[in-house]
This record gives sequence, structure tokens and C-alpha cells, in this order.
Amino acid sequence: MPLVGFPRILLIGVLVFCLFTGVSFFRQHPQGRLPNFWAHQAANANENSPFSFKPSPGKFKDIRNSTLGFQKIFLINLPERPDKFDQFAIAASFTGFTYDLIEGVKGADVQNKSLPALKGLPATERARNNIVGCWRAHLNAARTIVRNGLSSALIIEDDADWDVYIKDQLQEFAAGSQFLSGVTAGPKPHSPYGDDWDLLWLGHCGAQFTPGDKLQWAIANDATVPEPNRRANFGGEPDIAAAGYDNSTRVVFRTSAGACTYSYALSYRGARRYLRNQALLETFTPIDLGISKMCKSKNTEFKCFAPFPQLIDSHKAAGRMSRDSDIAKYSADDVREHGFTFNIVHSIRLNIDSLLADENAPIQRQWPNDPEVIGPPRPRAMVQSQD
Ligand SMILES: *[C@@H]1O[C@H](CO)[C@@H](O)[C@H](O)[C@H]1NC(C)=O
Ligand SMILES: *[C@@H]1O[C@H](CO)[C@@H](O)[C@H](O)[C@H]1NC(C)=O
Ligand SMILES: *[C@@H]1O[C@H](CO)[C@@H](O)[C@H](O)[C@H]1NC(C)=O
Repeated sequence: MPLVGFPRILLIGVLVFCLFTGVSFFRQHPQGRLPNFWAHQAANANENSPFSFKPSPGKFKDIRNSTLGFQKIFLINLPERPDKFDQFAIAASFTGFTYDLIEGVKGADVQNKSLPALKGLPATERARNNIVGCWRAHLNAARTIVRNGLSSALIIEDDADWDVYIKDQLQEFAAGSQFLSGVTAGPKPHSPYGDDWDLLWLGHCGAQFTPGDKLQWAIANDATVPEPNRRANFGGEPDIAAAGYDNSTRVVFRTSAGACTYSYALSYRGARRYLRNQALLETFTPIDLGISKMCKSKNTEFKCFAPFPQLIDSHKAAGRMSRDSDIAKYSADDVREHGFTFNIVHSIRLNIDSLLADENAPIQRQWPNDPEVIGPPRPRAMVQSQD
């Protein structure tokens, strides 16, 4: 609205109003209004809550901090998609974490001579743009870790979704990654996730057990594990039942393959290996498959731990489907009536509207008719016998 013709007295009124209320409007709001859900639920003695209070031992305490126990968090967002950034910001504000921006890269801005190989480049201009740009943005994130000597960082894409209880989940996950990376009863590791890993693939769309792997970590009776028919994992699901786990168990394991980069963490060691490995590609490979190859390779020791079911996934928002992905293509008329996210039981994205209306609103489950897990999770080490 042009200010000419705007009644001056009203304008002054608005200014004065803003000045007076500035203290509460513009004061920095504490991040994460829902600091510890398991404690929160216990304090509220919610009869229906599957959670019960579980004090966090010192080794895992930092996971509740504003960078989820990593030294930094990096959000990857293309400047032309501020709409995704907006919604991400709201979701992160409820969970209580802060992040730095790594700008997404357009493929057209990546010169051929800066690529490790031209063989394998996607054929169409459009695919090239997306896949090559995405690859470069992820490398920029890894380079930022190396350049700044960060001990670890979580990289997260702007349409990611996660469970409202992610801090609790990450504490459980970290018990697993500490176990797998050989942390014993000794002194506290430098990273609450353990000190011998390169990549933690928290947000994948397809991880696989490593054949012959003997050590795994199981979180049984986990109320945030989706029923088998709510899961999605490209390349087939790890056979949970055959490995002796039931439907409400999450497994943490060394993964030999993966797909999608909704979110993963790199250690400093991992970021250096990653940058070097990607510079030596003989065939250009989309970033997720490139990571997958690193995780699998017996030649490059690159330790990747993953949860299954995954902890972070990609949200498909209600509305025009053409807004979804900067890679996938939909017709302009396709509209999705209800938003959803595979694998995530208490989706933060699907709880935003009720939490905005009332911060103490009961947390909604995405599939309210699925059987509900009662009681706290039961974590344990699993030593598989090899056939
Ligand atoms: C959170 O904890 C990690 C691990 O101890 C640490 O590196 C990071 O600096 C902490 N974040 C903040 C904001 O203090
Ligand atoms: C980059 O390399 C690809 C594959 O060889 C080729 O099709 C394309 O024309 C090249 N682009 C430029 C700008 O040279
Ligand atoms: C686990 O899920 C599978 C697939 O949905 C189902 O066939 C099986 O009965 C479930 N097991 C239990 C113990 O509920």
C-alpha cells in the first residue's frame, strides 16, 4: 500500500504501538518452546502418553543443545525458494535448534571444468541443473566444515521433516553410534555421537544392513517407530524381522548403502575424506549415490552409521505439488490435499498449526489408528551371530 494517502495519524499510531510493545514483540524468543518432551509429558502426567521421563546421562546431555550435539547445523536452501526456508524456520524454532545457511547452487552456475568427470553427467539440461547443483551445494557444506575446522556438522535440506521428539530420539541414536564406534565405559567421548565415524545418515530414503555385520544397536519399544506399512526405503527394507527385531524397534547399524540426502552429519575426518573422494570421481555421480559408494567401499575406510527406520525424512506439503522438489517434476495442476511424511510418527510439520495455536496442544500422531507403543524405549546392544 502506498504511504501517500495513508492517514498520518494512523501511521504515527502504528509506530508508537510498535515502540511500546517492542519489548515483547522483538525480544529474542527462546528457541524450542518444548524443551524436553519426555519430561514434559511426565510432568503433565498425560495418561495417553507413550513417553515417560528418562534423565539424560552426561554422555548424551549435549544432544539437547541448540545444535543437537553437533558443532554446527547447516541448512541447504536455494535462494529462489524462500518459501521452503520460511517453513523450515518455524519447524526448527519449535524443536529448538539453530543453523547457518549454505546457499543451494544452480547447476547452470557450475562450470564443466570444475567437475571431476564429464562422463555420467545427466543428459537433459534440467536434470543436469538439479543434480549437479545439488552435488555442489553439498560439497560446499563439507568444505565449510574442513575450512573452519568443525568437529562435526549436521547438514539438512529445507524440506526435511522430523519427529517432535527428535532430541530424545537422537540421545537414543547416540547410544548406538557410541556403541558402534567403540566408546566404552571410559572417559566421555569428544562428540556425544562417539569419535570414530565419518557420516551419520539420519535422513536417508534407503539404507541397508552391511552383510555379515555383527554389531548393531536396537532401540526396542520405541513409540516413534512407524508401522512397517508406513515406511519407505528405496532398494528394499533391511529385514528387521529376520534379524530378530520386532515392529517397534529402531536399529542403529553400519550402513553399506544409502540414498537421499534429507539430512546427514559429517565429522571433520569424514568431511575431509568426502571432499577428496568426490574430487577423484571417474564418473559423475549424484551426491547421494556418491556417499553410498563411500559407505560401501572396502578400500576407503569411511564409516557410515544409520538408523532404520530413518529419523529425518522429506515432507510433502499440502497444496500445489509443483512446489515440492527442485528436482522432481509435477504438472502445475496436481494438488495434494493432505501433507504427509513417510516414516515420521509425530511429524513436526504436521503439528505446527496446532502448536502455533497452543504451545501445549497435544502432539498428534500422523497415523492415529496405528497401534500405540506404551512405556519408555528399551535400548540394547545386539551381537548378531554370523551364518
Ligand atoms: C553442542 O554440543 C556439541 C558437542 O559437545 C558442541 O560441539 C557444540 O558446540 C554445542 N553447541 C552449542 C551451541 O553450544
Ligand atoms: C559440459 O559437458 C557436457 C558433457 O560432455 C556437454 O554436453 C556440455 O555441452 C558441456 N557444457 C559446456 C557449457 O561446455
Ligand atoms: C509386524 O508387521 C508385519 C507387516 O505389517 C505384520 O505382518 C506382523 O504381524 C507385525 N508383527 C507384529 C508382532 O505385530
